Amino acid sequence: MCGIVGILGSTDVAPRLVDALKRLEYRGYDSAGVATLEGGRLVRRRAEGKLRNLEAALEKTPVGGTSGIGHTRWATHGSPSVANAHPHMAGKVAVVHNGIIENYLELREEIKDGGADILTETDTEVVAHLVNAELAKGLSPQDAAARVLPRLKGAFALAFLFDGDNDLLIGARKGSPLAIGHGDGEMYLGSDAIALSPFTDRITYLEEGDWAVLDRNGARVFDANNNEVSRQESRSSVTAALMDKGNYRHFMAKEIHEQPEVIGHTLSRYIDLGARKVDVPGAAAIDFTNLNRILISACGTAYYAGLVAKYWFEKYARLPVEIDVASEFRYRETPIGKNEFALFISQSGETADTLASLRYCKENGAKIGAVVNVPESTIARESDVVFQTIAGPEIGVASTKAFTCQLAVLAALAIHAGRSRGFVNEDQETELVEALGAIPGLAVQALKSEIKIETLSQPLSRVSDALYLGRGTNFPLAMEGALKLKELSYIHAEGYAAGELKHGPIALIDENMPVFVIAPHDGIYEKTVSNMQEVAARGGRIILITDERGAAESGDVAQDVVIMPDVHEIVAPIIYALPVQMISYHTAVFMGTDVDQPRNLAKSVTVE
Ligand code: F6R
Repeated sequence: MCGIVGILGSTDVAPRLVDALKRLEYRGYDSAGVATLEGGRLVRRRAEGKLRNLEAALEKTPVGGTSGIGHTRWATHGSPSVANAHPHMAGKVAVVHNGIIENYLELREEIKDGGADILTETDTEVVAHLVNAELAKGLSPQDAAARVLPRLKGAFALAFLFDGDNDLLIGARKGSPLAIGHGDGEMYLGSDAIALSPFTDRITYLEEGDWAVLDRNGARVFDANNNEVSRQESRSSVTAALMDKGNYRHFMAKEIHEQPEVIGHTLSRYIDLGARKVDVPGAAAIDFTNLNRILISACGTAYYAGLVAKYWFEKYARLPVEIDVASEFRYRETPIGKNEFALFISQSGETADTLASLRYCKENGAKIGAVVNVPESTIARESDVVFQTIAGPEIGVASTKAFTCQLAVLAALAIHAGRSRGFVNEDQETELVEALGAIPGLAVQALKSEIKIETLSQPLSRVSDALYLGRGTNFPLAMEGALKLKELSYIHAEGYAAGELKHGPIALIDENMPVFVIAPHDGIYEKTVSNMQEVAARGGRIILITDERGAAESGDVAQDVVIMPDVHEIVAPIIYALPVQMISYHTAVFMGTDVDQPRNLAKSVTVE
C-alpha cells in the first residue's frame, strides 16, 4: 500500500524523503514522488516504477528546501503513471494520500463545476483542489483542512505541504495509519515508525479521525470533531538497524532464517518452560469455559494460520471454530451469539478487511481478541485482548516469520483453552508445552534442508503449475505453500486436502506437474501415501516433505524427498512451514523475480 512521509527539517530534505521512502518500499508500490518548498515555493518530482527512477529524476533536476512530503504509490485509481503519482498539487497545496476517497467522483464534479481542471485519474487530486479552494477564500491552511477533512468519505492518511509556509505540515488519518515523529528541532510524518526510524524513535500515533498540525517545535492534534486532544508520545522499538538485510540477499531470506529466534521470543511470552505450563497474558479476560464458539477472520497467510488454529482449538479444547477470509466475513452478516469470542489475525494490524470484520463483531457484542505483530496498530488498539507476536518488523512482502509466530501464539492459546475447559490435563499440558519449547531447535534443523531445497527449486522455476497436498493441519500449510509460490514466482499453484485430490484436481496430473506433499509421519500418514500413489500412477512428479520414518515408508514413489526432524504433531505445521517458504523463495530467486516486493502486491493492505 501507499507510503507517506513528511519532514520539517533543518537540512536538504529531498534525499531524506527518499531515504524514508526506501523504508516504506516493503509496503509495495509502483510509482513515487516528492514535493518540497524551494525558496518557499512548491516544487515536485515524480517517477514511475522503483525509487531509483525518482532518484534519477532528482539527480537530473534536483529540488532544494528543508520541508517536504514524499510518497510511494500502490495504484488503485488510475495507472501507475507519472501523472497519477503523488504528490498531487493544486494552487498552493501539495498532498500525498494512502487509502481511497470513496466519494471522489461526486467531489470531482463539484471541482469541475467550479472551473478547475482535473489532470489525473486519481481519487486524491480532489483533496488538493478542495483545500486549495478553501485557501483561495482566504482561510488559513489549518482552517482549510478542518473544513475539507469531514467531507472526505472512505479511508485515508493524508499529508499536506503548503506553498509559502516553510514551517507547516498537516497530517490526517481515518482508516489508514499515520504517525508523527518528534526530532530535535525537526518534526516528521510517516505511515509507520519504520519510515521514521532513521530520524527518530519518538513517535505519536494518530488515532482514528485525528488530524495534526506540525511545526518544527511540535504538533497539535485534533480529533474528528476538531477538538484539540492530547496523544501520547512513545518510544518505538523499530531501530534503523532492524531494517537491514544483514548478510542476506533479500529480506525474505533474512526473515526465514530469523524464525528460530523470533519464535523463541514469542513463545517465551506465552509458555513457562520451567513450569511446563502455558501462561498466556490477557487470556484470563476470555471465559473459555462458557464459550460456545470462536470466530476467526483474517486474510491471506494470516487466514491460513487461523485455519491451522481451528484444528487445534477443536482438538485440544473441543471448541468449535468458524473461520472466514475477512473480505467475506465482513459482508456476510453472520449472527453473533452470546458467549462467542472473535479472534483476528494480522501481521500488520492494519488490513482493511480484517479491521472491518473486527468492527462488525464488536458492534454485535462479541469479545475481541487479536494476534498481531504491530502492537500500535489499529487492530491491536481496537481489540479487548492483544496476543502479540514478537516477530520484529517483517519487510519482505511475503509473510514468513509472522506466520510461524502467529502459529506459536495460537498453539499456546489453544492449549490454554483446552486446560480451561478441562480437555487438556496437566500431563498433556506438560507434553504440549515441551513440544512447543523444542521449536527453536527444530527450526534450526529444518533450515538445514536449504541446500537440498535450492537444488530441487531450479527445475521448478520452469514449470507453469504446481499442486500442494496435505492433510489435517498440513492442509492449510499446503494452501500457504501454493500462495507463496504464486506470489513470489508467479507460478500458478493450488493447495488441496490430499484426500480431495481424486474429486477433481487429479485430472491435472501429468509428468509436467510437480506435486508437493507435506506429510510428517503422523496418524494419517498412510492415507497420504495412498494419495501419492495415485499421483505417481499418473506420472506426476512428487516432492515429499516428511521425516525419516515417512521417507522410509514412502518407497520410491517420490522423486525428491526433503527430510524434516521428527516433531510432535502440534509443532508440525510450524516446522514444515520452513521448507515450504524456502521452496518458494529459491524458485523465485532462480526465476529472477522481485522477491521482497513481488509485482502487484502490497505488504499492508489498507484498502478493500
Ligand atoms: C502472503 C501475505 C499476505 C498477508 C495478508 C494479510 O505472503 O503476506 O497474504 O498475509 O495480506 O496481512 P496481515 O497479516 O498484515 O493482515
